[in-house]
Amino acid sequence: MTERINALLSEVESLAAADEKELEALRIKYLGKKGLLNDLMADFRNVPAEQKRETGQKINALKTALQDKLNALRQSLATKEDSHDDLDLTRTPYPVQLGTRHPLSIVKNEIIDIFSRLGFSMADGPEVEDDWHVFSSMNFAEDHPARDMQDTFFVEQHPDIVLRTHTSSVQSRVMEHTQPPIRVICPGRVYRNEAISARAHCFFHQVEGLYIDEDVSFTDLKQVLLTFAREMFGPDTKIRLRPSYFPFTEPSAEMDISCNICGGTGCAFCKQTGWVEILGCGMVDPNVLEANGIDSKKYKGYAFGMGVERITNLKYQVKDLRLFSENDVRFLDEFVSAN
Ligand code: PHE
Repeated sequence: MTERINALLSEVESLAAADEKELEALRIKYLGKKGLLNDLMADFRNVPAEQKRETGQKINALKTALQDKLNALRQSLATKEDSHDDLDLTRTPYPVQLGTRHPLSIVKNEIIDIFSRLGFSMADGPEVEDDWHVFSSMNFAEDHPARDMQDTFFVEQHPDIVLRTHTSSVQSRVMEHTQPPIRVICPGRVYRNEAISARAHCFFHQVEGLYIDEDVSFTDLKQVLLTFAREMFGPDTKIRLRPSYFPFTEPSAEMDISCNICGGTGCAFCKQTGWVEILGCGMVDPNVLEANGIDSKKYKGYAFGMGVERITNLKYQVKDLRLFSENDVRFLDEFVSAN
C-alpha cells in the first residue's frame, strides 16, 4: 500500500496537460469516482490497524498533492490562452480608416476662414426661434409671403415659434446686445418648407454677414465680397451685382460670380450666361437698426447671406442636393479635407 502511494506521489510532479481535455482525463484518472485515489481508499479497509494512521495521512497528502497539481495545471492553461506570446509590438499597425470631413463643413470652414482674415468674428444662435428675431426685427411686413405656411415651419400650437428660415435671426440677436462696431458672420442650418428634390431641400446651410459702423458704404460691401469671391474661387473671378429686394436691406442686390465651371464662356451649369448667383446683400435698412436698438442716424451697415450648398456645388459640382444629407460613405469619401 505504502509503495503504491509513494509511486503515485512521485508521478504527481511529472503530470502535464496540453489542453483542457487532457487535464480532464487526468482528473478522472486520479480523482474520479473510479480513479486511483478511490482505489486506494477502497483498499484502506485492509490496512492493519496499527498502520491506519500513517497510511491515512499519506493518502491525504497524496490527495492534496494531486489537487494542487491539477489546479496549477488548470491555471497555467488559462494564462496560456490569453497570454500574448504572439504579440509583436514592432509590427506596423493596421491601417486605420480615417473619416473625412463633410463637404459642407469643408466649405463652411473655408468661408469662415476667409471672413475671419477680413476681421469678422463668429456668432451663433438657436435654430428654433421666435417670430421677432426671424421676421419682425428684420423688417418683414406682417403679411410678407416668407411668413406664409408654405415657406416657414411653425412649431405646432405656437404660431410665434418657428424654425429659422435664415441666420439673419442671429444678426438680430447680436445687434440686440452689442453696440457698433459690429463685424460678425453667422453660419448655421436653416429650414424652409419646400418639397425635397435634387434642387431644393427642407433644410440647408447659410453663412450670413453683418458689418455696422459709423462710416460704411456700399463700396465697402462690394470690395469685401470681391475679395471673398477671389479667395474662394480664384484670383480671376469676376463679380457683378444686380439690384434686388430684401425687407432688411435697402438698397439690396444679388451677386453673381463668373461661372467657375466654364470660366465665363457659358455652360449648362450657368445656363450659357457665364454667370452664377451666389449671394444676396445690401445696406442694412435703418428700420432694422432701430428695431434692434442701434441708432440709425449715427450708424450704417451692410449685410450679406449665402447658401453653403450653392458654394459647394460650384466648387465640387454636386448635381443633387440630397447627396449632402444621405451620408453615403462613397460620396463622403470623395472629399478629403486638409483641415
Ligand atoms: N437672409 C437672406 C436669405 O436668407 C440673405 C441675405 C442676407 C440677403 C443679408 C441680404 C442681406 O435669403
